[in-house]
Amino acid sequence: MAVVRVLVTGGAGFIGANFVHQTVADRPDVHVVVLDALTYAGNRASLAPIADRVEFVQGDIADQELVDRLVGGVDAVVHFAAESHNDNSLSQPWPFVQTNIVGTYALLQAVRRHEVRYHHISTDEVYGDLSADEPAFDESTPYNPSSPYSASKAASDLLVRSWVRSFGVRATISNCSNNYGPYQHVEKFIPRQITNLIDGVRPRLYGAGHQIRDWIHVDDHNRAVWEILEHGRIGQTYLIGANNESDNKTVVQLLLAEFGRAADDFDHVTDRPGHDQRYAIDATLLRTELGWAPKYSDFKAGLAATVAWYREHEDWWRPQKAATERAYAAAGERVL
Ligand code: NAD
Ligand code: DAU
Repeated sequence: MAVVRVLVTGGAGFIGANFVHQTVADRPDVHVVVLDALTYAGNRASLAPIADRVEFVQGDIADQELVDRLVGGVDAVVHFAAESHNDNSLSQPWPFVQTNIVGTYALLQAVRRHEVRYHHISTDEVYGDLSADEPAFDESTPYNPSSPYSASKAASDLLVRSWVRSFGVRATISNCSNNYGPYQHVEKFIPRQITNLIDGVRPRLYGAGHQIRDWIHVDDHNRAVWEILEHGRIGQTYLIGANNESDNKTVVQLLLAEFGRAADDFDHVTDRPGHDQRYAIDATLLRTELGWAPKYSDFKAGLAATVAWYREHEDWWRPQKAATERAYAAAGERVL
């Protein structure tokens, strides 16, 4: 379908802001409306370079009246807004239930009423985790979430599926692996270590650092979202991943090398309770049906570009850094 006006929820967060930047650059005829509550994770500054190209509304996705009005004025919704950090969901689960489940419910009711196309952004974490030799997740893998975060995302996916089946809502879902790139909050693994290294602090690895994530550049994720929005089959789930599994220790050592530091110049810290061991994505359906392929095939180069971005945008991340580290310490993180 040709999209003329799109509502992007969570457009001041990491992936949503990158989606808005990409849309403004590649599709200048699309009118973008951002709905974002500007929680601790949202940042107006992420949209500052394109502020005059975007309509920004500060508000909560669970505000049914507001959402209904905004959805009535667009022809598609791309829903990124969420509480997104596993560690926070372990200390304070309620906002995850409220935003990820109740918020998604409000959006679904609005797209149902206005018959608006809806794309739901989800995560590979809904499938639980894998041992080293299990095959990667695909669209038929049963749901088996581990944390309050992934359970709330799984619940929201199931609401979407039922709104398709019961009410004929024109929705698609994508479940993506771990993203990296510009504008990611310093609470997350890669930006936390980059900004530690800029500050001369040792990177912090949970436990032994053997957990594996399947890293994808945020721009590749967002190009896949546009493919699905325009050409995906209604009711279909697509998995998004770039075949780039790496354990956490290797990622830290790539970053240390980028800063010219020794490979053992990091700390092991308290592990995450219930820590998922491995995520891996089989994106065959997306590749064969929609012809998508990642552009960032060199992880080392993608990380180097991300390091350069954080070096050049200290004004963007510095205001959050000290409070984020204080929160980790208050949650009991300590060097092992
Ligand atoms: P983020 O935490 O960086 O951004 C979330 C945004 O949502 C923020 O701008 C925040 O202000 C906004 N928000 C939160 N609650 C809201 C509410 N009630 N109403 C309106 N806005 C609200 O998250 P992210 O990493 O950009 O993730 C975006 C989406 O992608 C999430 O749905 C997440 O589950 C999914 N996802 C993330 C990754 C990843 O690696 N980061 C991978 C796969 C899927
Ligand atoms: O897989 C997709 C998911 O990826 C998304 O759904 C989530 O929104 C996103 O936050 C991310 O979840 P993770 O829990 O995998 O990401 P995080 O950046 O928190 O951690 C990545 C790995 O690094 C994980 O194994 C925990 C570890 N870690 C994390 C931090 C913050 C560390 O070793 N040290 C750290 O300081």
